[in-house]
Amino acid sequence: MRTFLRTTLAIGAGVFFTGSLFVVAEPPVTPPESKMDQIEFDRQAMAKIRSFAIELKTRLKTGIQDGGPTKAIAVCHEEAEKIAAKHSEQGWLVRRVSDRPRNPNNAAQGWEGKMLTDLKKNYDVGSEKKYLSEQVGNEFRLMKSIAIDAVCLTCHGENIQGELKDKLDALYPNDLARGYKMEDFRGAFSVTYTAE
Ligand code: HEC
Repeated sequence: MRTFLRTTLAIGAGVFFTGSLFVVAEPPVTPPESKMDQIEFDRQAMAKIRSFAIELKTRLKTGIQDGGPTKAIAVCHEEAEKIAAKHSEQGWLVRRVSDRPRNPNNAAQGWEGKMLTDLKKNYDVGSEKKYLSEQVGNEFRLMKSIAIDAVCLTCHGENIQGELKDKLDALYPNDLARGYKMEDFRGAFSVTYTAE
């Protein structure tokens, strides 16, 4: 919409003087790239988590179908790292953490510790809020809880035996990630974005 005004009132940016006529320019079709704020960060972080989770679950399912759970161990290890790396570019860091890690590298670090504890508390009381986020200086942080479902029980459940048990014992001597039941709190996706 174009508005013509016969007045000398300042109307803000985008006003051109044409004789006694002012033309208010139309707003640009594509808005300039917006600065990162908490709402925009939350939106982008949740989108990254969604695609990470879907990709990993699909890989796990096909991995188990193709080679059985013992072979699929590699999926949860290597594929998870690759998928996380893919989403961790240009200031972003995406990873999985747990209060009961299988791989000690996946223990909470720094700020993740408190947020993971708060998230678990929310989860255990059945809070609707499945994620927490905060901004500290130029760093944006978000964590979303991960629940155990049927496919996870194969490798994180109570009944791990035989070849699978032997392989897990060998790879993860300090494994804390067994003995889960359906719907248990398993840990969280952790996303950090550091603005320039
Ligand atoms: C085929 C076996 C297997 C299945 C099935 C599996 N996981 Fe894992 N999971 C592992 C292994 C192995 C690791 C350790 C990965 C590593 O070394 O980084 C792991 C690590 C994790 C971690 C990172 C924290 C930690 O304990 O190291 C989370 C979170 C996790 N799994 C959640 C899940 C969820 C949720 C499901 C179901 C959707 C699932 N896993 C299904 C084998 C499995």
